[in-house]
Amino acid sequence: MDIERMLAELTLPEKAALVSGKNSWYTAAIDRLDIPALMMTDGPSGLRKQTADSGTTNINDSVQAITYPAAALSASSWNRDLMHQLGEHLGDEARAEQVSLLLGPGVNLKRSPLGGRNFEYLSEDPLVAGELGGAYVQGVQSKHVGVAVKHFAANNRENQRFTASSDMDQRTLRELYLRTFEIIVKAAYPATIMTSYNKINGTLNSQNRRLLRSILRDEWGFHGAVMSDWGAVADNVQALRAGLDLEMPGQGQASVNNIIRAVETGELDEGTLNKAVRHLLHIIENWLPADHAGTYDHAAHHQFARKLADDGIVLLKNRHAELPLDPKTAGKVVVIGELADQPRYQGSGSSHVNPTKLTTPLAALQDSDLEANYYPGYRLDQSETDDSLVEAALTAAKDANHVIIFAGYPENTESEGFDKTSLMLPENQGELIGRLSKINDHVTVVLQNGSAVEMPWIHGVDAVVETYLAGEAVGEATWDIITGAVNPSGHLAETFPQRLTDTPMAPTFGQDPHHEYYTEGMFMGYRYYDTHEMHVLFPFGHGLSYTTFEYTNLAVDENEHGAIITFDLTNTGDRAGQAVPQLYVANHASHVPMPTKELRAFTKVAVAPGETKVVTLKLNRRDFSWWCEGKSRWQADSGDYELMVGDSSRDIRLQTKLTMDFKNSPAPVTAETYLSTIVRDPRLQQIFKETVLAPEHANGNNFLATTDEHGNLALLQDQMFLNMPLRAVIALGGPADLIHDFINAANKR
Ligand code: BGC
Repeated sequence: MDIERMLAELTLPEKAALVSGKNSWYTAAIDRLDIPALMMTDGPSGLRKQTADSGTTNINDSVQAITYPAAALSASSWNRDLMHQLGEHLGDEARAEQVSLLLGPGVNLKRSPLGGRNFEYLSEDPLVAGELGGAYVQGVQSKHVGVAVKHFAANNRENQRFTASSDMDQRTLRELYLRTFEIIVKAAYPATIMTSYNKINGTLNSQNRRLLRSILRDEWGFHGAVMSDWGAVADNVQALRAGLDLEMPGQGQASVNNIIRAVETGELDEGTLNKAVRHLLHIIENWLPADHAGTYDHAAHHQFARKLADDGIVLLKNRHAELPLDPKTAGKVVVIGELADQPRYQGSGSSHVNPTKLTTPLAALQDSDLEANYYPGYRLDQSETDDSLVEAALTAAKDANHVIIFAGYPENTESEGFDKTSLMLPENQGELIGRLSKINDHVTVVLQNGSAVEMPWIHGVDAVVETYLAGEAVGEATWDIITGAVNPSGHLAETFPQRLTDTPMAPTFGQDPHHEYYTEGMFMGYRYYDTHEMHVLFPFGHGLSYTTFEYTNLAVDENEHGAIITFDLTNTGDRAGQAVPQLYVANHASHVPMPTKELRAFTKVAVAPGETKVVTLKLNRRDFSWWCEGKSRWQADSGDYELMVGDSSRDIRLQTKLTMDFKNSPAPVTAETYLSTIVRDPRLQQIFKETVLAPEHANGNNFLATTDEHGNLALLQDQMFLNMPLRAVIALGGPADLIHDFINAANKR
């Protein structure tokens, strides 16, 4: 395609049509110039292709496709390789279905556990979301299918999502909510970015020039196309001017006419329209669909869905090694809960998939070698207790050797499009868990849910297995973990607080219909709980294994560009397993509010019993940097840092201090420079001693140069003086001429 020639040949109405979207799933085709329509479909954890001729408006009516675990579970794998493979599988399926663009991954941060779309998002931490999201993007695109990374940006609540403004300071925006997108754009070159519905600090994201042009393109070097979320654009001319390339799904001829009018009246420069058209033509050219429909190996893809779920399921609690249950020795096992039969295995809304082969936990039980009887225990379609179901379950559980109860959020409480109102399980489920734990000492709770759950019953149960929304292989994967066929290695990519009221945004989340105030700033998720040393139910990064790992021999090699960290990881148990070493950094060098630790690197390592592996993690300058709003740039400060290697943010196994020297040119010394700054810096202190404090300067008006009875310079010990700028020292009678000499000498390099 000769894009510049096309651009010259396209008429204004054709250009306007191209940037307006044709309908829900296609861009406009320009037959005259052989420009094909480009097809896109949801979604992040499985194809939701609604065929052009099905004419359906039912969101759940799509072609059959593999339903992979929702992002909440796949992210718990902390496994870049598997996320890449997930992308490859999705790419193969999209290619077979002749789709050009896959609308995913969803990478916004899980700010409040009430966020309705948390199941579709990866993590509360931008590094985890960025690295895993980036691997997914690379996987999809390796199969010649483009992605739409969504939803750019700060789409952390669903209520009033079309109009609410996410209001926060620039540092919070840069370090948390934009950071994930920045990592993905720079490392994975996504074909497109989808803007979110919301505003940031009052400006609609799809019409936000700073976001779409200055940051995304100029700063990060994004070369793809920017499309809107469905119906997110309020004014399509403003959107084009701000840097949006494609309004989706477009408002038909109304959108087109508006653009034509704006160009004709001069409201919209045709050059601006051309830019958007150029971006789109590149996308159409680069991501042409396969010329004929294909197939893929459904059984193999289903097995991958199972493998990904196996790798992500998190063993949250395992008192007295309740799990795994060996089918040969388990004795009488009772399985309770309607969710075993009617599992919740995927999220609702635009990521809903029509599965190829759903295996329910109850059906998969038959193939697991475990013998168990099943009792529904509660009804999913109501939250009131059903006494007869409860009685039957309790009677069976009384003399059972092990009880496994399936519990979770029903579909109508958790979906795209609205936020949750509570973190409690339905009353009938919570109450049943409590009663079971009173009559049986071996209760395991298996959870199916999209985000964090409160567990008032936690002390009564022995084991908790978090399966989130595990995809169509939910049944097989659940028993893989419970029976020990697979050793669990999932770790939480979000904190489970004890109570909703413990979350930093509890009093304000969703309260104001027009604004969401990010008053907690940087202190979100573990950055908040850890800094405030609060008790949490399960910390960020937590996940148990059936084996044990030992961390030893931490070594650090640092220079002005960053640091290389190595340590030994030994499997000290008797089963093969995978550990998720996490490297946190505490910044003691910068004089701005800092969380007590921030995740800066992680990996996942398979280790055989008795084996030791050397793990290497790298930190670069950015890992020590913070966003300086005043200077509008990243800043890495020389000084002291602490490195912590852990199995979760609360289970730190190795720790060391480190002094970084970034060879920054120092801030100039002025009359506003504090004495404490001068005393802390060996070079400045030396110059100050020479120019101001030396004995030859100890004349009449220079009280600074006086010494105490031991002959030490009194000033250097005096906290009150140290907390004064030079200007104040002069104002209090200090030697102005000598201090100015010092300032001149200090700034000479
Ligand atoms: C969702 C997007 C989705 C689009 C198309 C929107 O409502 O926010 O994530 O890709 O619909 O289904």
